Amino acid sequence: MSDATRLNPNARDKYRLPIYTLRLPGIRMYVINSASLLTTVQRQSKTVSFEPIKVKAAVTLSGSSKTANDIVQSYEYGGEGSGGYATALHRTLQAQLSPASDALHEMNRAAVDNIAAFVDKAQSRRGQTFALFEWIKHEVAITTTNSVYGPENPFKDPRVEESYWQFEPGIMYMLLGLPMLAKDSIKGRETIVEAFQRYYNKEGHTKGAGITRARYEFNAKNQIPPADIARFELGGNFAILTNIVPTAFWIVYHLYSDPELLEICRNEVSSVTTDSINASGRRVRTVDISTLQASCPTLMSTFQEVLRFRTVGTSVRLVMKDHVLEGSYLLKKNSLVMIPGPVQHSDKTIWGLNAGEFDYKRFLKPSRRAQTVAFRAFGGGASLCPGRHFAANVVLTFAAMLIMRYDIVPLGGTWKQATTKNAGGWEVTTKPDDDIDVQMDFRKDEDPDQIWAYSFSADCKAIHLTVEDS
Ligand code: HEM
Repeated sequence: MSDATRLNPNARDKYRLPIYTLRLPGIRMYVINSASLLTTVQRQSKTVSFEPIKVKAAVTLSGSSKTANDIVQSYEYGGEGSGGYATALHRTLQAQLSPASDALHEMNRAAVDNIAAFVDKAQSRRGQTFALFEWIKHEVAITTTNSVYGPENPFKDPRVEESYWQFEPGIMYMLLGLPMLAKDSIKGRETIVEAFQRYYNKEGHTKGAGITRARYEFNAKNQIPPADIARFELGGNFAILTNIVPTAFWIVYHLYSDPELLEICRNEVSSVTTDSINASGRRVRTVDISTLQASCPTLMSTFQEVLRFRTVGTSVRLVMKDHVLEGSYLLKKNSLVMIPGPVQHSDKTIWGLNAGEFDYKRFLKPSRRAQTVAFRAFGGGASLCPGRHFAANVVLTFAAMLIMRYDIVPLGGTWKQATTKNAGGWEVTTKPDDDIDVQMDFRKDEDPDQIWAYSFSADCKAIHLTVEDS
């Protein structure tokens, strides 16, 4: 597994405990190792709750006003510490991001158009040497935010995009109540907030995706002051940027650094590609994006394995009242429950002896239930990531379009092992410690003059990634 994930699996391997307590000054934490206990915890989502953690994080990170904080912690929403506001907002967003919703299909189609434009534009990189992560970070951030925020997307301003990457590294300090160590982050945050205030003032959200409009309307209906609506949108920025960007990088890294895997995936995408000749006699290759998930099993398995292998995230919950878990383990009120994803993802009893290696074939076999429960990349239970279908669409579309058109080779010819020792603690998938200089060209075995097009023969379906999707 990646280096940043060693600590928790080491404690699991050393003590073999299903759950253990960590005492730090002023706080008691219970760390869950056992997959069966984590399922039980998820069933107790009112007693062992994510909601107050989300509200605390939103208020602490955004720098929202007392008026806004009083509303989100109001009696109407269950009072301070209940997180009721977050529950109601979550339901609103879930409805927009569900495969049953037209809003998700619209957002997916916008993403496909944006990714196609970026992959087309990528030909200007031919013959240059450039840093792979930096390139993907910028392009994926812009295509994703364009799809979510529409034509007035504030991240189109390079200063605003840069401010987001400046904001991220201070997240942990702010959450730990050490804002004095997060001065650059706070500066970056303020630039983003001002940009979003301008965005709402000119009604940019009315041209954005369903989740953007729904989040704004939910906050406005609840009389959150306009300046604070812009601040709370930082949560939306975080959800769409922080994990998609590194996931897109890792899938590209694993696909291109393994020639056998690259060839298999190219053949799979070819199987959903049809050829025609346009009016000017040029060949047009049209990839049916809506069938990628069903018809490209190795690409899909690679995506899942990227999420398993590269997950560094830990779910955090607050114990709302004393509770005895499975009749054996006392959880004290006001303690934290930690569910480290890497502990589940590295468990050899669940994933087999090669759990510590990247195996693109791992998800080709139907997953056993134990594996589906232990797959934590999108969390689980009441707070299962509602954006997983959109995230899968963006990452798979991006990977498929890129591999069909371009060869990418690292400078010097050999892909080096990428490490993740510097994970920041706030993310689920993390960026590589060192960037990789690469060169890109059209595929040698494809006609450089042909045109690439993309179609949707069907609406997107739910991705079957988590136990809740089966
Ligand atoms: C590869 C990309 C992504 C990964 C790995 C990811 C992962 C996660 C995880 C693990 C959680 C649960 C956190 C916990 O239980 O502690 C979560 C929650 C959430 N995610 Fe994602 N996510 C991704 C992309 C997205 C996108 C694109 C969106 C929005 C379009 C989104 C929206 C959300 C929201 C709103 C929540 C909070 C759910 C709640 O209120 O309980 N995520 N995500």
